[in-house]
Amino acid sequence: MKVNGHFSNLATSYLFTEVARRQREYTAAHPDAETIRLSIGDVTRPLVPAVIDAMTKAVAEMGKAETFRGYGDEQGYGFLRDAIVKYYAGKGVELAPDEIFISDGAKSDVGNILNIFSTDNIVAVPDPVYPVYVDTNIMDGRKVLLLDANAENGFLPMPGEEHVDIIYICSPNNPTGAVYNREQLTAWVDYALAHDAVILFDAAYEAFINDPALPTSIYQIPGAEKCAIELCSLSKTAGFTGTRCGYTIVPKALVKDGASLNAMWLRRQTTKFNGVPYIVQRGAEAVFTPEGMAQCKENIAHYRENAKVMGAAFDKLGISYCGGVHSPYIWLHCPDGMTSWEYFDVLLEQYHIVGTPGSGFGKNGEGYLRLTAFNTAENTKKAMERLTK
Ligand code: MLT
Repeated sequence: MKVNGHFSNLATSYLFTEVARRQREYTAAHPDAETIRLSIGDVTRPLVPAVIDAMTKAVAEMGKAETFRGYGDEQGYGFLRDAIVKYYAGKGVELAPDEIFISDGAKSDVGNILNIFSTDNIVAVPDPVYPVYVDTNIMDGRKVLLLDANAENGFLPMPGEEHVDIIYICSPNNPTGAVYNREQLTAWVDYALAHDAVILFDAAYEAFINDPALPTSIYQIPGAEKCAIELCSLSKTAGFTGTRCGYTIVPKALVKDGASLNAMWLRRQTTKFNGVPYIVQRGAEAVFTPEGMAQCKENIAHYRENAKVMGAAFDKLGISYCGGVHSPYIWLHCPDGMTSWEYFDVLLEQYHIVGTPGSGFGKNGEGYLRLTAFNTAENTKKAMERLTK
């Protein structure tokens, strides 16, 4: 037999696994150090009451013969897809329920969606970016073209002349926090339409956008329904990092190479996926109620406040950064010409703060470090006081 040889082209371990390993090693060697984790974007606030109430009711339903549910629809329950249709209508985007596929989170679908694309496709990925985009394509052996995202272009690369077939866009961006405006996204949609390419638009951080002029969905751009798939998650919007629920939108107008991508994705999901648990989907439905939305917004406001505290600390230190306004991430320029991993070590060893080295997000991330606002106000302040005192 032969294994998938493309795996040998990957870094030995996944970025966040490596960061967690180094943190574990450090805390094992220094048990008294009170380490504050500002590395992986994992929420720290509990699920909101509207979600807990809905899931509690669903648990009770599962215990009664009349309301018990076995296998659900692989595409997701209608009640949740209808709630998402309404949520998008509020953004001025018209969707049909069968264009929405409920998933266990955007990370899984970012990798799984590649099943419907040929391995001959040329893929464009911004650098730096969420490492899952590059790694999943390397696993399949696709050719990846890196688009430079740097301080000169505001970490927002724009289309070039070169032809590509698949384009990853993450806005607000992980890790830099940069957000594309309407004109910039229009340029990407126009490029994709002209090149018969597909945009994979990762909207996991859309709920952090704080300016109504900025697009929160690619479908707010005319023509995007003919060239884009949108992947979204309730992880950051509603604290579902451990509960697991997200959704992928594949418009029916998206036809490539003579095939409906919606039909292909449905075929893939019905074959390889048995759906998200009923209890979780009831919780997710509650996120989209007025009560659930208001409660989730309060949590986001809390994380935003943390980001402000962090920004103020780096201003005081004279360390330049971006992000933190429409995003839970602060993207710092490492001081004194340090590399990403050097600054990671300084933060961990001298200040007991865990960050994520920018170089783990791509070559242009070298010399940068990402911190997240996902922590308690108390820990965020404590971490910043350690740095500024
Ligand atoms: C991150 O820290 O980049 C994210 O939390 C990782 C993820 O969503 O998988």
